[in-house]
Amino acid sequence: MLYRLARTALFQLDPERAHDLTMKGFARVTGTPLDIFYRQHVPHAPVEVMGLTFKNPVGLAAGLDKDGECIDAFGAMGFGSIEVGTVTPRPQPGNDKPRLFRVLEAEGLINRMGFNNHGVDNLVENIKRAKYDGIIGVNIGKNKDTAIEKGKDDYLICMDKVYQYAGYIAANISSPNTPGLRTLQYGEALDDLLSGLKEKQLALAEKHNKYVPLALKIAPDLTEEELVQVADALVRHQIDGVIATNTTLDRQLIQGMNHAHEAGGLSGKPLQSRSTAVISRIHGELNGKLPIIGVGGIDSAVAANEKFDAGAEIVQLYSGFIYQGPPLVKRIVKSYLARKAAQA
Ligand SMILES: Cc1cc2nc3c(=O)[nH]c(=O)nc-3n(C[C@H](O)[C@H](O)[C@H](O)COP(=O)(O)O)c2cc1C
Repeated sequence: MLYRLARTALFQLDPERAHDLTMKGFARVTGTPLDIFYRQHVPHAPVEVMGLTFKNPVGLAAGLDKDGECIDAFGAMGFGSIEVGTVTPRPQPGNDKPRLFRVLEAEGLINRMGFNNHGVDNLVENIKRAKYDGIIGVNIGKNKDTAIEKGKDDYLICMDKVYQYAGYIAANISSPNTPGLRTLQYGEALDDLLSGLKEKQLALAEKHNKYVPLALKIAPDLTEEELVQVADALVRHQIDGVIATNTTLDRQLIQGMNHAHEAGGLSGKPLQSRSTAVISRIHGELNGKLPIIGVGGIDSAVAANEKFDAGAEIVQLYSGFIYQGPPLVKRIVKSYLARKAAQA
């Protein structure tokens, strides 16, 4: 009810302005008595993934809190994990505005943000300040002005800087909004990136005496054959997890709707079944060798359960959270617990 009112007001504004205002509000209010407006008790529903214990299986997806400015606010909403980023070595402004659009009829979003962020050093300081006791994932990427052939170096720089402070690290090679980035998902480029990341991870594990799992975030637009190749590479390079999926370039399900023609990645309800299909396919290929974090169009407990049925161990929310608000987190966790009890 409260979120519905807030949403009505926020949806009168330009989407990015609504986002920025809300984040500023969170940053001000967190830790004060006013945070009762979004603080909620979410039941404990621990789940082990990538060797980590998540206090519940519902995480915040990357991109909402790119700079880790509101970790404690999202923690107060009951998220079991918070993935901050995508962060790049150097700060960058991202693409020209407007770059975020609501596709209201379909409960979707289109974005071409282009990794706007304040850089990895700033993110690390924000993580250090956070009091959140859940898992903080750090999603890393490359700067727009770093040549794609040198892209790996950017991932390694970020990994080095965030390693000590991250619960897990997610390498994002699936954003459609950084030119050339998705080419890292194929063939030799993928092998080269994964072997570099793995080598770095092992060196940092020794240096810090702490193993931080590494996940790869993939696009929903890979062909069957490409998915098979990605799965094979993940196993060969002993990557710890896969996050499926990022946004899609496909516009089939929103044809003729307002903003459907905007360039960028589509998320939310129109992505739901495509992302579930990718999870199901890669699950079949991986055969339990590494865990899947399911994301894409989750807007209800039913939609989350479809991701679990397809093979996801935990899930993440972005667009569904924008449309449904914090109560969605609680609904999914409660339904997850009920499912577990029924299966026992
Ligand atoms: C405005 C916006 C910005 C995003 N930024 C990032 C990002 O920086 N890094 C990333 O890995 N994914 C990013 N995503 C993708 C989401 O993390 C998620 O994978 C995708 O939106 C599908 O989930 P959803 O349907 O629940 O939104 C972004 C999504 C949106 C809508």
